[in-house]
Amino acid sequence: MTEQRVAVVTGASSGIGRAIAVRFARQGIRVVAAGRNADELAKLAGELPELVRPVCGDVTDPGHPERLLAAAEKWEPASILVVSAGHGLPGTVLGSDPDGWRDLVEVNYLAVLRQLRVGGEYFTGQAERDNGRRVRDIVVIGSTAGRQVSAANPVYGSTKFAVHSLVEALRQEVCAHNIRVTLIEPGFVRSGFQETAGYDMAWFDKVTEDNGPLLTPDDVAETVGFVVDRPAHVHLDDIRLRPTRQRV
Ligand SMILES: NC(=O)c1ccc[n+]([C@@H]2O[C@H](COP(=O)([O-])OP(=O)(O)OC[C@H]3O[C@@H](n4cnc5c(N)ncnc54)[C@H](OP(=O)(O)O)[C@@H]3O)[C@@H](O)[C@H]2O)c1
Repeated sequence: MTEQRVAVVTGASSGIGRAIAVRFARQGIRVVAAGRNADELAKLAGELPELVRPVCGDVTDPGHPERLLAAAEKWEPASILVVSAGHGLPGTVLGSDPDGWRDLVEVNYLAVLRQLRVGGEYFTGQAERDNGRRVRDIVVIGSTAGRQVSAANPVYGSTKFAVHSLVEALRQEVCAHNIRVTLIEPGFVRSGFQETAGYDMAWFDKVTEDNGPLLTPDDVAETVGFVVDRPAHVHLDDIRLRPTRQRV
C-alpha cells in the first residue's frame, strides 16, 4: 500500500525524524526531508538518492509547511505528513530558564498547530478531489511526557500535552475524509534531543542506567512505518512506546 506514496517529514536532519525518513525510503516511500541543518539533510539525501529531497528551513517560519508540500508535488502530492521537529527544555516550573519558554512554545506547539492546519487543509482538499479514495496520514511525535505529568520536565511536557489534544481533535475533524491523524508517544529515546536541549548528561546517564536500554530512533521509526502501512480502513491512532524498564 505504501508503494508510490510521498511523505513530508519535519525534523528529518536528526534522531527520530531522520530514522523515519530512512525507514520510509526503505518502504518505497519518497520523502521530502525538512530541517535547518543543510549538511545533515544533504548527507541523508546522498545516502538515498532519488528517494529523499532535502528542504532547509525553520518550522517557525510562516509558509514553511506550504513550501514542503509544494516540494513534494515535484513528484506527486504528498499523502503522508510526519511532524517530528521539536526540542526539549530542561527544568521545572521554578527551575527552567524563562528565556527558553517562548521558543519552546513556538516550535513544539505553534509550529505543530500550523503544520496540522496546513497539512489538514491540504489533505482534505486532496480527498475532496478523489472522494477519499486514497488514505492519507498525519503522524505527530508527541511524548509520554504529554500523557503523564512529569515532575522533572513539566514545561516541555506541557507542550506535548497540548499537542496530544490537537491531534485527537484533528483526527475527529478529518477522519471522514479517510485521513488518519496519529499520535506516537515515545518514552526515553537516545538521540540528539538531550544535548541540543542542554539536559544534564550526568542525569541522563542515570536515566539510562535506571531505564535502559533506551529506545532508539529506529524503534520509533519502525512503529511509524507500520502505522502508515496498515490497510486504509485500519487506524492505530495513538501509540505509546517506552523502554521496557521505564516505569513512568
Ligand atoms: N528523544 C526523546 O527522548 C524523545 C522522547 C519523546 C518524544 N520526542 C520528540 O521527538 C521529536 C524528535 O526529537 P529527537 O529525539 O529526534 O531529537 P533530535 O535528534 O534533537 O531531532 C530534532 C529535530 O527537530 C528539528 N528541529 C528542531 N527545531 C527546529 C526548528 N525550529 N525548525 C526546523 N527543525 C527543527 C531538528 O532539525 P535541525 O537541527 O536541522 O534544526 C532535528 O531534525 C521531538 O518532537 C521530541 O520532542 C523525543
